[in-house]
Amino acid sequence: MDWSPSSWQSRPSSQPFAYRDPSELDRAVEKLRTLPPLVTSWEIERLKAFLADAEEGKRFLLQGGDCAETLDDCRPPIVTSKLKILLQMSLVLLHGLKQPIIRVGRFAGQYAKPRSAPEETRNGQTFPSYFGDLINRPAFDESSRAFDPNLLVAGYTHAAMTLNFIRSLTAAGFADVHHPEQWDLAFASRAGLSQELREEYTKTVATLSEAIRFMEALSEKAVDDLTRVEFFTSHEGLNLHYEAAQTRTVPRREGYYDLTTHLPWIGERTRDPAGAHVEFFRGVQNPLGVKVGPSVTPDAMRRLADILNPGNARGKIVWITRMGAERTHLIEPLVRAAQQEGMAGLWVSDPMHGNTRVTASGIKTRSFDDIEREIERTHEVHRALGSRLGGVHFELTGEDVTECTGGGLEEEDLDKNYVSVCDPRLNYRQALEMGFGLARLLAPRA
Ligand code: PEP
Ligand code: CO
Repeated sequence: MDWSPSSWQSRPSSQPFAYRDPSELDRAVEKLRTLPPLVTSWEIERLKAFLADAEEGKRFLLQGGDCAETLDDCRPPIVTSKLKILLQMSLVLLHGLKQPIIRVGRFAGQYAKPRSAPEETRNGQTFPSYFGDLINRPAFDESSRAFDPNLLVAGYTHAAMTLNFIRSLTAAGFADVHHPEQWDLAFASRAGLSQELREEYTKTVATLSEAIRFMEALSEKAVDDLTRVEFFTSHEGLNLHYEAAQTRTVPRREGYYDLTTHLPWIGERTRDPAGAHVEFFRGVQNPLGVKVGPSVTPDAMRRLADILNPGNARGKIVWITRMGAERTHLIEPLVRAAQQEGMAGLWVSDPMHGNTRVTASGIKTRSFDDIEREIERTHEVHRALGSRLGGVHFELTGEDVTECTGGGLEEEDLDKNYVSVCDPRLNYRQALEMGFGLARLLAPRA
């Protein structure tokens, strides 16, 4: 296989951000090469095994977090509230689906954003678009928008700090299911949760704690494993300088691992089979997410599968469909093709990116109902074909933001606390409600 961590450089990219000073770029990349990895091959292989289980219907994937993390968001309250909402959703799903949930955050590196237009013009001035904190800065002026290789190192250090905090929080205490008070209703009270939702959640936590006590009484020993939970990281592998610098071989294993994250994904705009991103990711051992939107054809999917997963291994590819609530029928030919050819892959729904719209007053938003409908319909397409929706992918936050409508928010509320630097996210209450809706939808049928 004629591949190396730099073979992507001879391929075209639809997301060109050319660094001005090659020696400055080299220095940043060299620095990243020498720094320790953010994740290990052991963890990556473990996630792959979990994903393979999910393909067989034995686990379910919950992936979520910000559209774009910012370096400034590397603060304890923001990290903990994001972790909490993901944990709480996973608990609700575990209870409803009666199977283990694989928790994957869009965090510790979700700093690079693909753009539809390379440049932005305001009042007659044109500068490069904002490609995320790993690449340039959001303010609209020449120096902020310049592509800055030093941000590669800044992104790495902030990812490392975020991940360090997440690892400590999830290692003990914070996520201990023996202490449901940790699962935090005080926190929930802030977010204007309805009495109904609060009661449903309290009941779920109580049922699970009781089940644990029962298990412990039965086996006469403590279920230690429940004092911690496992979290995996993911981000869009957009900036290949960043990914390649942390891509290495490791002792006693074959091949290269991208050690910036467990589960990198290839975006809707970068999945050209002849492009740089597919070239890069075909060479790594990580499981790979691949976003597929309305323009994908069964043939294109087949080609991607051949390139990215030539051995047709389970646990390797996560197909993340993002069609929009009105276009979920487009998933059908994809599933049929995969079934006919025995193509491996886990089917996951991203109900966010096909449902973005702009309000009359110019605010980018999404409605809770569209998001929920895309999942319901996607689930139905799979069910009707004898396939299975194996996971969900959300843009969400643990904060009380006002970015998506529904769940108590109207269009006129959107400017009250709109914080996202990119796409609109579900807020705390919307995310928890979504968790319960999903649990009902996907509960095993008697
Ligand atoms: C994203 O996940 O933030 C994103 C840009 O998605 P997509 O590639 O599906 O448009
Ligand atoms: Co997004």
